This record gives sequence, C-alpha cells and structure tokens, in this order.
Amino acid sequence: METRVREAAPADAPAIAGLVGAVAAENRWLRTEVPFNGEARAKRLAELMTRGSLVVFVAETDNGIVGELSLHFRDGRSSFGMAVAADMRRRGLGRKLVALALKRARERHATSVAIEVYAHNVAALELYRSAGFVSTGPPVIEERSDGQRWEALPLAKDLT
Ligand SMILES: CC(C)(COP(=O)(O)OP(=O)(O)OC[C@H]1O[C@@H](n2cnc3c(N)ncnc32)[C@H](O)[C@@H]1OP(=O)(O)O)[C@@H](O)C(=O)NCCC(=O)NCCS
Repeated sequence: METRVREAAPADAPAIAGLVGAVAAENRWLRTEVPFNGEARAKRLAELMTRGSLVVFVAETDNGIVGELSLHFRDGRSSFGMAVAADMRRRGLGRKLVALALKRARERHATSVAIEVYAHNVAALELYRSAGFVSTGPPVIEERSDGQRWEALPLAKDLT
C-alpha cells in the first residue's frame, strides 16, 4: 500500500483526533485515555495549528491518515507526541515522521525536542534512541484512571 507523509492542515484535525482515539483505545502507549471528546480535541488541534504553536505531520494512504506526529513549540523549545495505526506499524512511517519533526524544529530554531515515553514502550524507545534522543532525567510515575502506575521516561535531543 502506498504511503505518503506531509504536513497536516487544520482541516485534517478530525481525522488526526480519530487516529489518536484508536491508538489511545489500545490503553498501552499514550497518555491520552479513552473515552475522550474527539470533537473538542479536533477543534483544539485546529486552533493550535492555525496559531502556529503546533505543527502536525501525517502519514496517509488512499484510505486516509494512518500516522501522526504533533510537534509543539513553546519558549524556544519543542516537544511532540505521535501515533501510527496498529496495522501500519514497522513500515518506516514513524521514522519518517520523526525526521520531518526534527527538520522543522531546526528550521524554527528550537533548542531541543523532548518526548516522554513509557518505559514499557520498547518500539518508541528504540525509534527515539536511534534518532539521537537521550535520557534527560529520572523516570516519573504516572497513575492511570484505572489505578495502574506507569513509568514515564523523559528523553530529548539537543539541537544547539
Ligand atoms: C512507536 C511508533 C510511533 C513507531 O512507529 P513505526 O512506524 O512503527 O516505526 P518505524 O517502522 O519507523 O520503526 C523505526 C524504528 O523503531 C524501532 N521499532 C519500531 N517498532 C519496533 C518494535 N515493535 N520493536 C522494537 N523496535 C521497534 C526500530 O528500531 C525501527 O527501525 P527498524 O525497523 O529499521 O528496525 C509506533 O509503534 C506507534 O504508534 N506505537 C503506538 C503509539 C506510541 O507508542 N506512540 C509513541 C508514544 S511516546
């Protein structure tokens, strides 16, 4: 199946929110928990994109958006979150999206790009470490709504 990566437009926000909802429903990888208000999330995404404090890159096939990376800019630094649809993983889309995000962060003169990853998320850790991200501090324990406690690892890549 042919895939493309591109920068998203505000009109893509509902599809992006839909993808995030599907991956959040796996209840394993994202801080976002389900159920969530997809319409409100899409509205917020579109607002932030329009304002320029958020840049989203998407991967898509002819069937629609199958991957997203949301790059936030704040106080000269950047951070991101990302998700690839379960049936489209391990085909190189995540790596392409991260490369686009690093390029844009550099173009916007961000001094660093940060990400928090759950310690059990081996795929994401491998991807970020291979892209040059390193640990920036001790693990943080996050409590889920069902009472589970997950360890989150702060990582970042210095761009200076
Ligand atoms: C993490 C995620 C974004 C990676 O996206 P992807 O498109 O599957 O990644 P890629 O195919 O580009 O893989 C890039 C590298 O990541 C690592 N990787 C990816 N999946 C892996 C897995 N299941 N096990 C081990 N390493 C893995 C490998 O180093 C891989 O390179 P290689 O295929 O040349 O060995 C994807 O698995 C995902 O969306 N997971 C659920 C949501 C999530 O975890 N989001 C990130 C939260 S911090």
